[in-house]
Amino acid sequence: MKTLIVYFSFSGNNELLAKDLAKDLEADLLQITEPKKRGMFRIMLDMLFNRFPRINELNILWNDYHHIVLVAPIWNYIIAHPMKTFIKKNKEYLTNYSFITLCSGRDTQKEKIMAQLRKLADYEPKVIIEFETRTFITPEQERKGAYKVTQEDLTRLKKVDIYHKFLETYIAKKETT
Ligand SMILES: Cc1cc2nc3c(=O)[nH]c(=O)nc-3n(C[C@H](O)[C@H](O)[C@H](O)COP(=O)(O)O)c2cc1C
Repeated sequence: MKTLIVYFSFSGNNELLAKDLAKDLEADLLQITEPKKRGMFRIMLDMLFNRFPRINELNILWNDYHHIVLVAPIWNYIIAHPMKTFIKKNKEYLTNYSFITLCSGRDTQKEKIMAQLRKLADYEPKVIIEFETRTFITPEQERKGAYKVTQEDLTRLKKVDIYHKFLETYIAKKETT
């Protein structure tokens, strides 16, 4: 049994993260894509009307996986809308899953992410991890917005206890199955 990582990324940060996690966890990787091209305007509309945009079908052999890791950005405290669509459509399969994001970071955000996942899926996530760029970027970079995370940034961000515990749990589980 394996881990599957399903990710959505608008500007590349969560794609970098998802690919990196796939190596750490020796997991399979699938990207959520959309039939319509996305720009900032569509993000604003999705946020404003709390929409569930259409996404392209993913062919997933759910029985092959014991753990699903969802990776997506956060937009105005909300899980990126294409990922919300994915969760809503596939909630019956999301019994053992975690949510990981590479985001700017905001206070009380984790609770809000948990509340959204509780509403969207039938089960709670095993783990939520936020890798926050606010922990290392300068105020000037933060003001400019849309910070592009580098591999070095990511390596530094991953040096947190919660991520090590996560790896221990899921790599250890993989070995026993
Ligand atoms: C419109 C918009 C709203 C955002 N709102 C939040 C937010 O509420 N909380 C947060 O932590 N990050 C927020 N961010 C930052 C993104 O989550 C962050 O830049 C992320 O790394 C982008 O991921 P991507 O490159 O995979 O698309 C926002 C970004 C955009 C574009």
